[in-house]
Amino acid sequence: MNIFDIIIEEHKSFRKIANKLEETTSRAVKTRTDLFASLKNELKAHHEAEEKVLFSELCKHKEIKELTLESSEEHNVMEHLIGELESLSVEHENWGPKFKVFKEILEHHLDEEEKEVFSKARKILDKDTCEKLGKKFQKLDESIENSK
Ligand SMILES: [Fe+2]
Ligand SMILES: [Fe+2]
Repeated sequence: MNIFDIIIEEHKSFRKIANKLEETTSRAVKTRTDLFASLKNELKAHHEAEEKVLFSELCKHKEIKELTLESSEEHNVMEHLIGELESLSVEHENWGPKFKVFKEILEHHLDEEEKEVFSKARKILDKDTCEKLGKKFQKLDESIENSK
């Protein structure tokens, strides 16, 4: 399967979980905790697989290198915010607002990858490479998630 199709499917799931989480209140401790745990684990594996499999390949092409590095920096910002959310009780009054800020950054990032990075990358990488990277991405993504 083409790496971009795999990644876009995962993005859909992140948007869904983030929407559900945004609707929770500080009283929904278990739902919040469980949804956040799955979003966090899936997102961490996704970022790592994206960086190791796709971004490393894209950085070899100067016409897309800077955009790719920008995406990678956004991963860092999100990981930082995930850490802050983790260290705060889900019942805390700041958790919801902090999650909203995180969600805005996440949505911006997913849109930017899909509309800018991937559409440019599709023109740079040939079909065969996209398939090979897809297999590699899936393998790595699963192994990271299973190791948690
Ligand atoms: Fe990403
Ligand atoms: Fe992504």
